[in-house]
Amino acid sequence: MPLVSMRQLLDEAAKGGYGVGAFNVNDMEQIQAIMMAARQTKSPVIVQASRGARAFAEDLYLFKLIQAAAELNPDIPIAMHQDHGNSFETCKSAIALGYTSVMMDGSLKEDGKTPSTFDENVEVTRRVVDYAHERGVTVEGEIGVLGGVEDGHGAGGTGLEHITDPDQAVEFAERTGVDALAIAIGTSHGAYKFTKKPDGSVLKMDVLIAIHKRLPHTHLVMHGSSSVPKELQDIVNEYGGKLKQTWGVPIEEIQLGIRNGVRKVNVDTDNRLAMTGAIRKVLWTQPEKFDPRDYMKPAREAMAKVVADRMTEFGQAGHAGDYKPIPITEIAEGYKSGKLDTRPSVTAK
Ligand code: G3H
Ligand code: 13P
Ligand code: ZN
Repeated sequence: MPLVSMRQLLDEAAKGGYGVGAFNVNDMEQIQAIMMAARQTKSPVIVQASRGARAFAEDLYLFKLIQAAAELNPDIPIAMHQDHGNSFETCKSAIALGYTSVMMDGSLKEDGKTPSTFDENVEVTRRVVDYAHERGVTVEGEIGVLGGVEDGHGAGGTGLEHITDPDQAVEFAERTGVDALAIAIGTSHGAYKFTKKPDGSVLKMDVLIAIHKRLPHTHLVMHGSSSVPKELQDIVNEYGGKLKQTWGVPIEEIQLGIRNGVRKVNVDTDNRLAMTGAIRKVLWTQPEKFDPRDYMKPAREAMAKVVADRMTEFGQAGHAGDYKPIPITEIAEGYKSGKLDTRPSVTAK
């Protein structure tokens, strides 16, 4: 089946009361791992590529691999999403390639590091929404700033410095018309999110719930949502890795989010850990091996297991066949007619 609108995936998830994992990819094995898990659990799925991933894979390689995934898995709805677009041009280039969804992360300036002003964020996000919706493409915006830095992207610091203000979230949703809204509730990108199991002082689920109460029809997005399980850290360290002990976002907190409007859950780090642990294990225990397939196959399997677990935990498992994909041209009509308008002043009526 052709790539599907992320908006349709999220609307269906809202109807079913579940969340959809959005998994980052950089190469063929990661795409295959996601599709193995999606087939096994019968899940619709969001595959996403950061700017770093697009550069690493020379754009076209990655996009053709996603098309191959769609062709090989006709029963699985797949949305292809630009993760953390830093500018109008980045989003435009993803749309030109055929991505069905883009994130305009206007919470940071184009350098991907410096927090922007609210008005700058609104302006660039609105511009992307106009351009993308005309073409039937979904837009995710971000209000508030996550902690951490990944591949040069991020404001750094802890996740507590720029928590989303619920009033601003409402104004942002109204002024931009985004399809999905990423909010900052204390999480960070990468492995080092929390120094102990997080409680309400560092992971602000109360803020998420307050935003959902104010924006009951807006699809919320949780970034930095890897759980960083101890078992995955231990495998990396057992075979020569040097990770400091750390805590991620507990699955039960993500599930609480899903009960309160979270429809897209971003996971990258857990998959990185799973693959790295599996590769380290082969190279450490069988130092005579040098065929990449000897370690990429276990790495792919380890990632598929994490993805399948998340698909089950987020509730998307079993929902791949629930609906027929709406062609992107028809989605564009829906935006044009106002049927897909997400602004709170419209959805509140
Ligand atoms: O946003 C963070 C994702 O984990 C992607 O990371 O920019 O290193 O590819 P990346
Ligand atoms: P993690 O680093 O927690 O996996 O977050 C990934 C993410 O938010 C990608 O946008
Ligand atoms: Zn992110």
